[in-house]
Amino acid sequence: MRRKLAAGNWKMNGTGPALAQLEALAKAHPDPSVDILVCPPATLIDRAARILRDTPIAIGGQDCHAETTGAHTGDISAEMLRDAGATAVILGHSERRADHGETNETVRIKARAALQAGLVTIICVGESLSEREAANTLDIIAGQLSGSIPDLVTGEQLVIAYEPIWAIGTGKVPDTNEIGEVHGFIRTRLERRFGTGVGRSVRLLYGGSVKASNAAEIFAVPDVDGALVGGASLKADDFSPIVEALESA
Ligand code: 13P
Repeated sequence: MRRKLAAGNWKMNGTGPALAQLEALAKAHPDPSVDILVCPPATLIDRAARILRDTPIAIGGQDCHAETTGAHTGDISAEMLRDAGATAVILGHSERRADHGETNETVRIKARAALQAGLVTIICVGESLSEREAANTLDIIAGQLSGSIPDLVTGEQLVIAYEPIWAIGTGKVPDTNEIGEVHGFIRTRLERRFGTGVGRSVRLLYGGSVKASNAAEIFAVPDVDGALVGGASLKADDFSPIVEALESA
């Protein structure tokens, strides 16, 4: 059985005062029946992890370097994330692919490092609007999956987030048939590559304009095991109802 996961990606948002949102979130969910993960900016990870130490809420990073240590100014390794208190990391987000030129190959070697460091590794895939309009969605997803996922994975540690680029921060969401088609496709590809045991235990998240108002409908789609939430994860009052929708899905 896959344990559902409500994950928040704060992106480049949040300074010290935002930590109060984590306290509020922890207070609202002392004993959740789903996993809850928040990925704040790297500068808040250590403080966030301390605040949440005795709670069920986990903290993650938004990126890591492929190497453990070395001359890589400004970068953070998977071990450093762990050391700061993170237990997960998001890799290959479309914003990193776009802003930092990350390729599937870049994402794969980062993912290898993250898995080796024992982090839950969330690999993001998703098509652009022009790719969807050209009916290339499944081909794009297939390429991202085969290129971005390392060969050695465990089903418990790997999470795939399907985030259509055109749905991120736009208020647009694919219809539930479209989400179901992609999630079913991802599941089949994982089973084919890694075997049914591993393939069936990888959690698949949907991301892109998830809100309290659309969460229940999205969580009812087969093979949607949770969400990767951007804007609506910044405030406990917005994220909490999404967690609750997942608990009752
Ligand atoms: P929004 O929920 O703000 O659309 O962002 C989704 C996302 O990119 C999460 O990683």
